[in-house]
Amino acid sequence: MSLLEKINKNNVPKHVAIIMDGNGRWAKKKGMMRIFGHQNGVKAVRASLEAAVKSGVQNLTLYAFSTENWNRPQAEINALMELLVDTINGETKTLNENGIRLHTIGNIESLPEKCQKKLQEAINNTKQNTKLNLILALSYSSKWEITNAVKNICNDVVSGKLNKDAIEEKTISQYLNTSAFPDPELMIRTSGEYRISNFLLWQLAYSELYFTETLWPDFREDDFFKALIDFQQRERRFGMTSEQITV
Ligand code: IPE
Ligand code: IPE
Ligand code: MG
Repeated sequence: MSLLEKINKNNVPKHVAIIMDGNGRWAKKKGMMRIFGHQNGVKAVRASLEAAVKSGVQNLTLYAFSTENWNRPQAEINALMELLVDTINGETKTLNENGIRLHTIGNIESLPEKCQKKLQEAINNTKQNTKLNLILALSYSSKWEITNAVKNICNDVVSGKLNKDAIEEKTISQYLNTSAFPDPELMIRTSGEYRISNFLLWQLAYSELYFTETLWPDFREDDFFKALIDFQQRERRFGMTSEQITV
């Protein structure tokens, strides 16, 4: 029985978020430059997309570049931005063939013009697709996102568009970049790091967390399926008792 067959199709997370980590270490182990790791990370992105489509996950968020990543050496940043443009150019056709619609979250305006243009083209060219939402987090950090949300809420309260007494948890969600998507039910991080690194702090409030030692460039469909199977074996109690859940 394949791992895919072991997945209960009635209990697939609606949204999976991945911190794609370990590219640099993967390259170093091979005696190569860090960018070689990033280039090979694209294979793992492809594999994850295929696995998400096969298993029926409808939303997949990939943390591709964080606000903090701007502090890396300029040469690595440039290479990552170039890789982003090349990948979008090369993959838009595949996205369309597989019914995948591209979205972005993060401070997109801070990216080089060329990246912004390519992203916008790919977003427009995949608009009609409905099988899977691929949400790329680029120049993203959760504290940045929440700070912006607070500013926008304040502006709308001051201008009278929003009544401060009407602010609910739902209102906060609506002011985040992810307002169009359900919160992730499963968050995967590769490379054996056990931290959130400023990713979706509000949205991950009740997500199941799955950590694997696998370095991102080695991550394949079966690794994705293993995470889903692990997710399905957990009891999600949301503050209640086990007895309440199982009746
Ligand atoms: C993740 O791999 C990719 C990005 C953050 C862009 P890293 O580049 O962080 O790889 P390690 O953690 O140094 O191995
Ligand atoms: C998190 O990975 C960001 C992305 C995967 C894009 P990092 O490798 O930058 O995280 P830290 O700095 O080790 O926490
Ligand atoms: Mg890292």
